[in-house]
Parts: sequence; structure tokens; C-alpha cells
Amino acid sequence: LRMVDLIEKKRDGLELTKEEIAFIIKGYTEGNIPDYQMSAFAMAVFFQDMTEAERAELTMAMVHSGDVIDLSAIEGIKVDKHSTGGVGDTTTLVLGPLVAAVGVPVAKMSGRGLGHTGGTIDKLESVKGFHVEIEKEAFIDLVNKNKLAVIGQSGNLTPADKKLYALRDVTATVNSIPLIASSIMSKKIAAGADAICLDVKTGAGAFMKTLDASRELAEAMVKIGNNVGRKTMAVISDMSQPLGYAIGNALEVKEAIDTLNGNGPEDLTELCLTLGSHMVYLAGKAESTDKAREMLQEAIDNGKALETFKLFLSSQGGDATVVDHTDLLPKAKYIIELPAKETGYVAEITADSIGTAAMLLGAGRVTKESAIDLAVGLVLRKKIGDKVEAGESLVTIYSNTNDIDDVTKKLYENIKLSSSVVKAPTLIYEVIT
Ligand code: URA
Ligand code: CA
Repeated sequence: LRMVDLIEKKRDGLELTKEEIAFIIKGYTEGNIPDYQMSAFAMAVFFQDMTEAERAELTMAMVHSGDVIDLSAIEGIKVDKHSTGGVGDTTTLVLGPLVAAVGVPVAKMSGRGLGHTGGTIDKLESVKGFHVEIEKEAFIDLVNKNKLAVIGQSGNLTPADKKLYALRDVTATVNSIPLIASSIMSKKIAAGADAICLDVKTGAGAFMKTLDASRELAEAMVKIGNNVGRKTMAVISDMSQPLGYAIGNALEVKEAIDTLNGNGPEDLTELCLTLGSHMVYLAGKAESTDKAREMLQEAIDNGKALETFKLFLSSQGGDATVVDHTDLLPKAKYIIELPAKETGYVAEITADSIGTAAMLLGAGRVTKESAIDLAVGLVLRKKIGDKVEAGESLVTIYSNTNDIDDVTKKLYENIKLSSSVVKAPTLIYEVIT
């Protein structure tokens, strides 16, 4: 096989075989195929698309480009949840203990990375003593015992995707459905998932800004998963405004505790119950998603979800007393309200810009080397559709400096009020199975 012939084949819109796709991914990972040929190939895919069969083969070729985590020592069906990213998305913190409480094993491998806030591990490190530096054997034992454990990323997962994603970033080929879908799915499968629940966000704060684009991506990923033997479903959910109220690390841990307690924000609670019921169903722990939802609600009502969270924290060195005493979480020096300049209805809370405001406070990393401030962030006091009186607080700002003019400016620019009534956005647009 020669790469130039395969580029030509894709350029002309023909279907590549399994062997051809495997050749490309192996050659590129090992450095035998240069960046310029891979760029031309990515651009050909961008314009010509890939068939269902090609997408599945591409995904599995990337899975096998590096280590594949073996979770077979964990009893039960391992369901992983993946979100395509958003702002103040506290769902992972809630869903882990929530579904573990009804017996679904959650073996989470998580990273740090860049973003508006830290990743799941950063957030959990708001709990004093909590750590993810555990051995693989201890990790597996913990999942078998408590149904929930989190470990830091290690090993060499999907090197083909790392290399290709970086190349796509500088060759205007990120925005291609077959390339995005195979990129995301390969990482989940390499991390050991038997079944996958996808939360595809849509709106200003999402990777996919329109419902049509989000649906196309969701359907592509669900097809890939099912075609490679991993039961997969997707929810398309709103990310025009941040999810829940809190955006920040310790602030989101508190929000997760409130939600596990039954006192969380309505949208976050609803999304967690929806995603969670599909996870429980895919794990084979309930005969229907309706039944699964009842089980999850019961785990919230009888305190089992919160107990599971405590056990999880203390098993990984964390001080679980924070669950009952959230004032023990890291605290910001300044707590500043952002008063509404006029009376009206909240019409827009542009998610990505609000996320940037949280990052300016120090809640997220600007570069890989940046330090993160676990205490700082934002808590929305109003959401789209809420009525607000002039002078009433729109947002509470948690900061470790009182010089926050850039933050308040950004917030005022991105929280828009209207004089007429505004409808709250739909939270869950579609469920794709
Ligand atoms: N996220 C990913 O992991 N991969 C893509 O290609 C795009 C978004
Ligand atoms: Ca939140």
C-alpha cells in the first residue's frame, strides 16, 4: 500500500477498506507517514466524508494505536459517560456516586487539561487529602468494593488521536463529523468502556453551536459505538447558558453535594437523572429507563447517593466530613455580588464567555503550566427566563483579589436583560439510542 494512492482514493470519494485505514493509522502513529500526507488525507475526509463502515474502522484503528485499558477484573458492565464539554458542567461529579449507589460500577479515568475550570480531578482535589495517585490494582479493588473510583490518566492511550488532533488543529480539519466522532469514541473505548452514554452539548458554550450539528455528531457516535460492539446512546442537552449555578472547582463540588442531597439546581438534577437512568439501564441494573430513574430518585431520597460519595472520597484519602460541612471547602477571600443595572428578564447568559470570566478569576488553566485556584468562581443567581429587579444580584463572584474589573465587564457584556418575558431554553432536546 502507498499513502499517496489512499489519499487519491479518498479524494475521489471512494470507500477505504479496513486494511487501508489500519495502514494509514499505524503508519502515521509510527512516523512512517509524514504530516503533509496526513494533512491531505484529513482534508480529503473533510470534503468527502466517511461511510459508516469507514468510521467504525477508523475508530478501532485509533483504539489499537496504543494501550487499551483492561477492566475485565471489575464485575459488571462498565458504562462510561462522556460530555462534549461545556461550562460549569457538574454532571460527572454527581453521576459517579449517583449510579454507583444503585450498583453500577464506575471506573473513571480522568485528566486535568485546560478549560474554564479544572477537570474532574482538580475539582475533587478541593476535598482535603483526596488523591488519584493509586495503583491500577487498588483502583480495581475500590471499584469492586465501592462501585466508584477515579484514577489519573496514565499509559499511552490513543496516540494516533493525539497526533491527528494536533495536526487537524493547524490544518482547518477539526470540524469534520467522522474525525470528531472517531476521536471521541476511540478514547472512550481505549479507556475500557463496555457501554457509553454521551452528553452532546448544543449552544453557545458547546463545541457544536447548532442543534443540527449536535444531532449529526450524536448520531455518528451512537452508530460507531453500536457498530463496534459498545452499546451507545446520546442525549443532546442545552449549553446556551451554563448548567446549574456554580462554575468553579470547590463551588461545583458543593453544587454536586447539594444535588446528591436532592437540593441541587433543577436543570443539573434533571440532566443527571436522565443520563443516569440510561447508564443504569445500559449496565443492566434496571429493565427500563423509567425504573432506573425511580431507583436513582430513591438513592437521593434515602441518602445512599450521598453515602456513596463519602465512601468514595474517604477511600481515596479525602476528608469526607466536607459532605456534611461544605464550609470546610476552600474559600475565596472576597465574595462580591454583581447587581443588575435595570429591571427585566434574563434573556442571555452566554455560556462560553461566562466560562472565560471564571477562568480570569483563576478557576481554570490558561496554559498547561498555569496553577488553578480551587476556591474561586461564579455562582449564578439568575438563569434565562428569570425576572430580575434593578440592584438585585445576577451573579455572586468568588475571588481572591478585589481587582476584578475585567471579570465584571465580561459578565455585564454577556448577561443580557430584556424588558419582555423570556422563555427558559429547552434542557434536553433529544435522546438518541
Ligand atoms: N473533541 C475530541 O476529543 N476530538 C475532536 O476531534 C473534537 C473534540
Ligand atoms: Ca454547574
